[in-house]
Amino acid sequence: MELSTQKLIHTFGALADLGQEIAGTGDFTEMVRTSMHLLLGTLALRRGAVAECTGHGPIGPLKCVAVWGLGDQIFNALEIEDADKQAFLSGEATESLVNNTTSTNGFLNRHRDKLAAEGIELVFPMVVRGEVTGLILLGGKASGEEFSTDDFETIRAMVRHIGVGIHTHRLLEQVAQRAEENRRLYDELRAIYRDTVRAFAAAIDIKDKYTQGHSERVGRYSEIIARELGWSEEEVEGIQIAGYLHDIGKLIVDRDIINAPYNIDAKLSSDLNRHPAAGYEILAPISHPYADIPLTAKYHHERLDGRGYPDGLTDEQIPLGAKIVSLADSFDAMTTDRPYRRRRSFEDVVRDLRENSGKQFDGKVVAAFARAILKEVKGETKDRRITKLLGKGYLEGEHVATLLSDLITDLEFSHKKAQKAQN
Ligand SMILES: [Fe+2]
Repeated sequence: MELSTQKLIHTFGALADLGQEIAGTGDFTEMVRTSMHLLLGTLALRRGAVAECTGHGPIGPLKCVAVWGLGDQIFNALEIEDADKQAFLSGEATESLVNNTTSTNGFLNRHRDKLAAEGIELVFPMVVRGEVTGLILLGGKASGEEFSTDDFETIRAMVRHIGVGIHTHRLLEQVAQRAEENRRLYDELRAIYRDTVRAFAAAIDIKDKYTQGHSERVGRYSEIIARELGWSEEEVEGIQIAGYLHDIGKLIVDRDIINAPYNIDAKLSSDLNRHPAAGYEILAPISHPYADIPLTAKYHHERLDGRGYPDGLTDEQIPLGAKIVSLADSFDAMTTDRPYRRRRSFEDVVRDLRENSGKQFDGKVVAAFARAILKEVKGETKDRRITKLLGKGYLEGEHVATLLSDLITDLEFSHKKAQKAQN
């Protein structure tokens, strides 16, 4: 090396700075601009520019990424052809000199005058993985000296760095774009899945003419309870779907049995009670984007005391999702009119929930639902979803908040007592 030690250190320093700049996560254009500045500073050059090749046709325009000491309009008149790229790939350093009038490089020959008029003396291709990804144009030295062999070595090293930096950045952009496309596709698929599920829910409810909208409401109550229990957004979506589908097994039960549950014998009743297991069989072969949908359908008529069906599971054996849907299901059954009875008063419903917590329902789940209702009653949430689902007037009256507060206190007390007994 003919470079003085000081110049060598300076060049190494510039290369290290360039590496840091390129590896940084800051603004891309700023990165290229700073890199160009470092390159110009290292060799004391007056001006320079970085341009990317765009388009995939035989002739492509050059897109300016950064300029220093010249106007970016220079690129308006420049384009690069496939043959030029081949010439650059096979070219020697001297091929890049603008004043080399014996050059066979088409790009230089076509644009020589324009480049010279802008004070450009060197044109370097940025080659990454055997492809020309862009060009770096450089003006002469401020001192007026000629470029030495060492200068060319330094320029080549820095140009390679900048080229790799630009290439990496573009790859990352593509990856981000693909990821975004995938996310959009995934969201679309989920939306299609949700719409299909809701259509199914509507089909289930149509079969039962007295419980129109039941599956939809169970889905919504389940979602509200899960959210109150602190479930994640994805788990909340999942339990809502499970709520929509909990009675899907009814599709295989005779319509007359579904429509007259108050008037059936033991045989017909056992037919009706097959619907959770049938629901599981329908749902299990489907690949759901959420966990436990089939099991929730299977166990939504289980009870903590083991007197439920189909498997007579007890407290710990019943998945929490099934406990949530079970409560949402019973709550909707109690709070909607049927042809053979009016809906129960809210006071009556609260009494039922208190009596059956620990037997049929999980006290923690009941308490969460009560808290969610109380928040609406007290106006602590903008959301009035439960109030709307229950219809006008149902949650009105001062006694409603008291009923709920007392229920929550009692359930929390029982829960603490049970925990103490366990310890
Ligand atoms: Fe059911």
